[in-house]
Amino acid sequence: MQSTVIAPSILSANFARLGEEVDTVIKAGADWVHFDVMDNHYVPNLTIGPMVCEALRKHGVTAPIDVHLMVEPVDRIVPDFAKAGATLISFHPEASAHVHRTIQLIKSHGCQAGLVLNPATPVDVLEWVLEELDMVLLMSVNPGFGGQSFIPSALEKLRRVRQMIDRSGKSIRLEIDGGVKADNIGEIAAAGADTFVAGSAIFNAPDYADVIGRMKDAVAK
Ligand code: DX5
Ligand code: ZN
Repeated sequence: MQSTVIAPSILSANFARLGEEVDTVIKAGADWVHFDVMDNHYVPNLTIGPMVCEALRKHGVTAPIDVHLMVEPVDRIVPDFAKAGATLISFHPEASAHVHRTIQLIKSHGCQAGLVLNPATPVDVLEWVLEELDMVLLMSVNPGFGGQSFIPSALEKLRRVRQMIDRSGKSIRLEIDGGVKADNIGEIAAAGADTFVAGSAIFNAPDYADVIGRMKDAVAK
């Protein structure tokens, strides 16, 4: 099992002062920055692109930037995010015509590759590509918006993917995204996740360090 990573989703940050928000959340104990990219096509919302990623790097952000692409098509935007300073790039198989090719494309640009499974996407999609991946991201809400409730069936899915990863013997991260809070993160960790995205639970709280601390304590129990 890998070390615990808390990856605040900046979707719930104050975009008017994004650099400052990211600095504050990293100082508060966050490990990564989760960067949600939505295109109003694959998902019904529109957010931020490579220019904002590059701006965060220029601002001095050195933490890993975990880019979650909710865009279709995927391939065209991969080189731009690699150039903009992305560390990991994850995408949805439904949004790529050739999943294996997209994984190789991400890696050829020097980034780590992740595949994202929506709540209704079967785990079978991992069977022939798992060993190529650096991370599997399981959605515990339908993609498009922050602040939704955790879908309980994600726990059983986590257990299944945890088994697949362990059987592979590879060091592949298992990330969960959607509705993660300090009061459910313990059972999510017990089901097998090691990497936790949380947007509203962190950025809507008055004290980021307090929530992140409580999340890390709950995972360690
Ligand atoms: C949803 C995004 C999530 C979202 C999580 O499409 O991928 O990263 O920001 O937000 P919370 O933690 O509020 O559910
Ligand atoms: Zn996300």
